[in-house]
Amino acid sequence: MPKPTPPMVSGALPGLGHALEFRSDRTALVRRGFEEHGNTFAIKLANQKVAILIGPENQRTFFMETDKALGIQEPYSFLRATFGEVLFLAPHDVYLEHRPVVLEAFRREKMLHYADVMQEVVQVWLDGLGEAGEIDLVHEVTHLVQEVAGNCFLGSEVHKQLGREFWDLYTDLSKALDPLLPPNLPLPKFIRRDRAKAKLHSILEPVIAERRQHPERYDDFLQDLVNKRYPDGRLADQEMIVDLLLALMFAGHETTAGQTAWTLILLLQNPHYLRLVQQEIQQVAPYGVHIDPRRMMQLDYISWAVREVERMRPSVDMLMRTVKQDVEVGDYSIPKGWLAQVAQDVAHNLPALFDDPETFDPLRFAPDRAEDKQDRFALIGFGGGTHKCTGMNFANMEMTVITALVFQQFDLELVTKHPQVERGLGASRPSPTRVRYRRKPQSELLAQNASPTAANGTMPAAAAEATGQ
Ligand code: HEM
Repeated sequence: MPKPTPPMVSGALPGLGHALEFRSDRTALVRRGFEEHGNTFAIKLANQKVAILIGPENQRTFFMETDKALGIQEPYSFLRATFGEVLFLAPHDVYLEHRPVVLEAFRREKMLHYADVMQEVVQVWLDGLGEAGEIDLVHEVTHLVQEVAGNCFLGSEVHKQLGREFWDLYTDLSKALDPLLPPNLPLPKFIRRDRAKAKLHSILEPVIAERRQHPERYDDFLQDLVNKRYPDGRLADQEMIVDLLLALMFAGHETTAGQTAWTLILLLQNPHYLRLVQQEIQQVAPYGVHIDPRRMMQLDYISWAVREVERMRPSVDMLMRTVKQDVEVGDYSIPKGWLAQVAQDVAHNLPALFDDPETFDPLRFAPDRAEDKQDRFALIGFGGGTHKCTGMNFANMEMTVITALVFQQFDLELVTKHPQVERGLGASRPSPTRVRYRRKPQSELLAQNASPTAANGTMPAAAAEATGQ
């Protein structure tokens, strides 16, 4: 006997199904489905049926099924007009060519280099903040993460040369992302997108051409892409390199900015845990000391906080696939033509997996509790399986560096006490969050470390001044 399709959640309206509720509060909709039917159920978005899959077993199926059965391309097809046929927006054989190129960007030696760049860029930002003031944390962190991405992926020279123009053009690209409208309608936002894209290509392609002529002059991510040859000996073409760079910026910067801002906010909202983080910084990464890989590995309290933010405030809080062949999930069959969805915002709050899930409790990830290790598909803020985020280690390292340096050098206070989750197309993030800050007194900074001699020249400007270097 064929298995039944997943049961429908209550509240579908004629014609619209659950579309309005999905738009206004999809977390509440998915929670209701979970309460009514358990791990597997369905909603209707107008005529489109969507199977919602909750819990590690179901999430394993979602991530481990082949692209042939659960297609990743179709739900993201609205990105193609902006980023072209790169990564999983490309046909599968092209995707298989692109993925190793991206993985290469995150190999160990590169990550060591990125760690240095991150510390330099974050320190420049902190030095620019002055002694005291008030900022919109989300805005500042977004800008900072753009600087990090630009310096790491374009290389500091190119990024300096392009300056903010790159990000202004980039903003025109991201503002035009629209999953509903045909991407070629003559609307002002689409016209701006096409102009920005043409301009970005006209700026970057000569840079690539120059690098092709003088490969010996550069050693960075962009150069890796420029040098890259496919197994048949072909060089990656210029247009593809620019598209890939833009797609990586998209995949990486709003997501990282959201979770970084939440890390700082949740720490400020939980002073008892922040004290543990501050003690750790004093012991492992005091002022003026370069955070080398050994020290990075010792920043446990920060890394658990970063993981707790992935659980509680995932930037990517749902993922979709198109069902291209019938897929069996437990007692049900999801027919071809449906969509399948996982929902991090609900899956990360299952009390069966996470003790007291509404509470910010990073120690749940300490070795004696290790709640995330019960199942490798329990925590899915970076996805899983074939399409698991290639930038995960980069993002986690960046969040760790920013958190360590901010709390090492500043005292902060939330002016906006209760920021809310704001959903965007690229990623969720906190609503605008005012923060008051004050630089720690010089005596306190220097007392953190008896010999504040930075090993790699990334010594904070104020420390360098104080030590006359
Ligand atoms: C906190 C920050 C980040 C979060 C929460 C995040 C989340 C995710 C998620 C959930 C996926 C899986 C998408 C799916 O299965 O449909 C993904 C894929 C991906 N991410 Fe990230 N990401 C982050 C940062 C980054 C960074 C910094 C980069 C690179 C610069 C990056 C590059 C990618 C790429 C290339 C993929 C596609 C992998 C593939 O299909 O082969 N991400 N990310």
